Amino acid sequence: MEHINEILRGFGSSLASAKMYSVNHPQVQETIDITYTYLKKFFEKHEELIIGVVENELIFENQILFNLSLMLLDFIKYLKNKNIEKIYIYPNLKKDELAKFLAMLLMKKNEIIGTVQEYLARQDIINIKVGILTVPEEQKKIEGLTSIKIYENMLNDIAPIFDKIIQRSPLAPNAHSDLKLILSNAMQNLSGKHQENLEFVPSNKQGKIFAHSLNVALLGMQMSSQLGFAPNDVLDVGVAGLFHDIGRLFLLQPKIPIGDSLENHFTVGAQILLRYENDLGVLPIIVCFEHHQKYNGRVKESSSPERKLHLVSRIISLCDFYDMLNKRRDVRHDYPADKIFELMSKEKNRLFHPGLLEEFFRILGVWPVGTIVSLSDGCIAIVREENHDDIFFPKVEIVSPIVEQKFVDLREKKSKIKILQTLSPMGAGKKYKYLI
Ligand SMILES: [Fe+2]
Ligand SMILES: [Fe+2]
Repeated sequence: MEHINEILRGFGSSLASAKMYSVNHPQVQETIDITYTYLKKFFEKHEELIIGVVENELIFENQILFNLSLMLLDFIKYLKNKNIEKIYIYPNLKKDELAKFLAMLLMKKNEIIGTVQEYLARQDIINIKVGILTVPEEQKKIEGLTSIKIYENMLNDIAPIFDKIIQRSPLAPNAHSDLKLILSNAMQNLSGKHQENLEFVPSNKQGKIFAHSLNVALLGMQMSSQLGFAPNDVLDVGVAGLFHDIGRLFLLQPKIPIGDSLENHFTVGAQILLRYENDLGVLPIIVCFEHHQKYNGRVKESSSPERKLHLVSRIISLCDFYDMLNKRRDVRHDYPADKIFELMSKEKNRLFHPGLLEEFFRILGVWPVGTIVSLSDGCIAIVREENHDDIFFPKVEIVSPIVEQKFVDLREKKSKIKILQTLSPMGAGKKYKYLI
């Protein structure tokens, strides 16, 4: 990351002043000089500099530069306007190439004949190249996969990091950013697919805790993002969600110190995570320690009743409880979605913050997207979209019998049709599972 901040901010300020004056103006030249100096410093240790642009974020070496991207939205806008998703800069770069590149960014799209790369070559800019992001093999693979397979792959990606923590081994320096990238991918591909992911039932205890942890992370990210958290903070919630039950994983090991048991897995987990504060930050430690503490301050174990819980602990606590109830959904123990709503509502003001609990169901709905339900008119439907202001009446697709008007907004049919019950995709709803 050395000098990247300075280089990119230099690009941003050169562009901002070049917009007001021209690239040859002394003030602009001054900012170009500074950027150029930092680039030279960067190339003392590197052979090339590659910067990527995805959505509104700048990427350097697999790291999403959230804070920097926020500051450089204008620069990103100019890159996107020219369809530039990747910039390659090489050590032999000359200062005038940099100036010409900036001038090109400020040109109107129709002034550039051919592709931007062709234009750069015509201008003798040979040490800066641009391109589009090639879809990495991994991503290509993801696109052809079912949600369950993506889910399974994500679990395989995070498992080695869990293993290291359980073994108390050092983490690779980029473990935190790798996790955030995995979670950011998970969010894009799996968010809102909680119902589908429930189908994935690992056979051993360790796998079950992994799956539960990923579910909680995904739900936590979905919720915090809807609550308006900044993108980087959403990923921090995800990381905290991932490790909330690390104590349970640790306790699966054969030789456990006397006194450590499932009842205090949150203190065991927090103690383990304390060793990784420098790698993962303080939030996972707080959330791990607090995720079973009650909102009303009544102590479970030995916590202080006055201390307010961290907002992220409250979010993860809701997601944790929800996923646990959902996971019990198999043929024998069927917890329908409305039953889960009822059970969690009973904990309002006790285990859960009342406003946050309401927010949770406003976001997720009582019958989440992907739930198979039977309707009072005898039809079978799948929930496709929530009505956030009317959580009992979502938008559904009728899957049986075959009808002409498949999509129905239950809020508009309130007086005539309502949802009767959830059909478990492992039981009564099995034959519609493939339609989820
Ligand atoms: Fe737990
Ligand atoms: Fe948990």
